[in-house]
Amino acid sequence: MRHVSETKRKRTVAEGSVILNAIVPPAPEPLPPMPANPLPLDQIIHADCLTALKALPDQSVDLIFADPPYNLQLRDTLVRPNQTVVDAVDDAWDKFDDFAAYDAFTRAWLGECRRVLKNDGTIWVIGSYHNIYRVGAVLMDLGYWILNDVLFAKTNPMPNFRGARFTNATETMIWAKKSREQKRYTFNYQAMKAFNDDKQMTNVWSLPICSGPERIKVDGKKAHSTQKPEALLYRVVLASSNPGDVILDPFFGSGTTGAVAKKLGRHFIGIEREARYVEVARARIDVVTPAPPGALAVAQSRRQAERVKFSALVENGYLSPGDGLISTDGTHAAMVMADGRLSVDGMTGSLHQAATHVTGRPTNGWDFWHYGGAPVDALRERYRRDSTSSTPTDGDA
Ligand SMILES: C[S@@+](CC[C@H](N)C(=O)[O-])C[C@H]1O[C@@H](n2cnc3c(N)ncnc32)[C@H](O)[C@@H]1O
Repeated sequence: MRHVSETKRKRTVAEGSVILNAIVPPAPEPLPPMPANPLPLDQIIHADCLTALKALPDQSVDLIFADPPYNLQLRDTLVRPNQTVVDAVDDAWDKFDDFAAYDAFTRAWLGECRRVLKNDGTIWVIGSYHNIYRVGAVLMDLGYWILNDVLFAKTNPMPNFRGARFTNATETMIWAKKSREQKRYTFNYQAMKAFNDDKQMTNVWSLPICSGPERIKVDGKKAHSTQKPEALLYRVVLASSNPGDVILDPFFGSGTTGAVAKKLGRHFIGIEREARYVEVARARIDVVTPAPPGALAVAQSRRQAERVKFSALVENGYLSPGDGLISTDGTHAAMVMADGRLSVDGMTGSLHQAATHVTGRPTNGWDFWHYGGAPVDALRERYRRDSTSSTPTDGDA
């Protein structure tokens, strides 16, 4: 083996780099920044949900509501005592060869949903006794952690025509977070309490099935065999999302999720395989009028209303020591100190003391000092929202 002395090797490398510098062209201009939000917001994707989900970025949606095929396995036509045929769910989209095929499909779409769900997001899946237990098992196997099962108790269920079983008057919604370890998620507890005449809301929701003028018809027939009532989605959306959030529904059907999301100032992404339903959903959502933004604020929890110290923003990384704050009128700059005080014009004091020092009169520092073009109060709001978008996981274990 040939040995090169250390000095000689260094010189060769140095000379080499001179040559390289001479022949390497200048670095290309940096690429233009990617669009901030490549998500197909407020759109209905006409596709199979597995294909469409795979095209969505990781951790990109705040909430998922899924109403998957029930896999009803109906064999015979259901007939009423007066011999009329029951309009049951016998659509092609609900047919699977066997339980194994249904489970494999469930595993695939729930897995993709977990990938696209943000780390502080949650998922709702609704089903009947035919499928919800299978869905629940897959959900748990994939690592989701169930927060609640919520019963949709139908006040006007279809009777059991044969009288061979109890009337089936419920569907079950599983509400889950991404993992047992997930600390933060949105639960607007106080809002749901206010919604329920100031009583804590239980997991039994008595609501009528979708009927009357709400039921979309095409040529006098139901446009979709399993259109969910908007009231159900209203509670889901109000309880577990915030205005501006992105709500994904991979089995969009007639677009109930999109209609309620639009009404409540949230974004939606719908995925639906059948063109006829896409059309129905588009027409339905187009005519929804969003509530005015001022009407969307919900009751805050006690924790949300808690006093937040300025130092909490520093210790939690919303601001860093050394960051500069600008006064409302842009004439003064203050520096954030490691201990949560501000340094301005040779004095160091609290947020309010620093503002008062500059103006010469008692001044509220939350509004006076600005960061990133907004008062630091906006950062406080964000901190409150982030730190209260979860509740203790009572009874989890
Ligand atoms: C139970 S329905 C959802 C109804 C909806 N929640 C509503 O309120 O109208 C299920 C829907 O999923 C659609 N679907 C079934 N399999 C699908 C798949 N693999 N990809 C996308 N959509 C699918 C069906 O066409 C059907 O419209």
